[in-house]
Amino acid sequence: MIIFGGSAGEALAVRVANLAGAKLGKIDQKRFPDGEKYCRVLDDVKGDDVVIIHPTGGRPDELIIEYLMLVDTIKDMAPKSISAVFPYFAYARQDARFNPGEPLSFHLMTRLIEQIGTNKVYTIDLHLQRITDMGEIFKIPAQNLTAVPYIAEYISKIYSPKNAAVIGPDMESEQWAKVAAAKIKTDYAVLEKTRFSATDVKIRARGGEALNVQGRDAIIIDDIISTGNTIIEAAQLVKKAGANRIYVGCTHPVLSGNALAKMYAAGIEAVVGTDTFPGPISFVSVAPVIAEALKKGV
Ligand code: R5P
Repeated sequence: MIIFGGSAGEALAVRVANLAGAKLGKIDQKRFPDGEKYCRVLDDVKGDDVVIIHPTGGRPDELIIEYLMLVDTIKDMAPKSISAVFPYFAYARQDARFNPGEPLSFHLMTRLIEQIGTNKVYTIDLHLQRITDMGEIFKIPAQNLTAVPYIAEYISKIYSPKNAAVIGPDMESEQWAKVAAAKIKTDYAVLEKTRFSATDVKIRARGGEALNVQGRDAIIIDDIISTGNTIIEAAQLVKKAGANRIYVGCTHPVLSGNALAKMYAAGIEAVVGTDTFPGPISFVSVAPVIAEALKKGV
């Protein structure tokens, strides 16, 4: 197995290669004077299981072109297989036409990835909301891994929350709240969210249910934090219901604009994310999650 990191996945690729005991490949990346991208694969990959670790957050359009160039090149070098790990998968949230004339961006991304010659895909806590199963959107083998046990364990070890209750801020977060609660052996509750726009959400208790958080610390778990508004709304509700300290964990700390400052200003004690989207709260690495999966089967 030989592991390459895309230009946003170099550090993660080194960590994964170390943990998986795999060779680390080298890519020369530069730009032509007119701004166009150039990549050159510097290893002979003939007969190899090639893995490309390629987060696509932050500068998605450029990184998607880079991915297509890399796979298009590698497939001409006679590898045994090409697997892609997309720790953050850009455009997954546009998984439906919410208004006439909009693109099905998520579907388009998966088609591009397949048609260019990828044999297998790994994602991490992919935003599966309206599309709930990887088989609905990918025709090639595709596996969605989770970083949530690592995030829950980190919050529990570093902050020692008292009598913690895990909270999912909306219905689809139940899949992560459940896993976090199991990891730290406690209960969880899920709230209900209505989204009015990319920045405007309202959250309420599910079916008017009373939240069992009085006098307890709360850990809110979600897949992505973008504007932070989901988390802030959820934190306010949980606080009103009597929670003490509030901790937040997410896999993908996108943190658009001043999201982090807004969450701290709303009284949240700490926010923990992973390195799928590297930034100021990427305290947990997904390298072990990826290495384990690769060791089991490229
Ligand atoms: C979608 O609903 C996701 O699970 C997250 O809750 C959402 O992406 C968070 O976005 P924001 O931080 O902008 O509220």
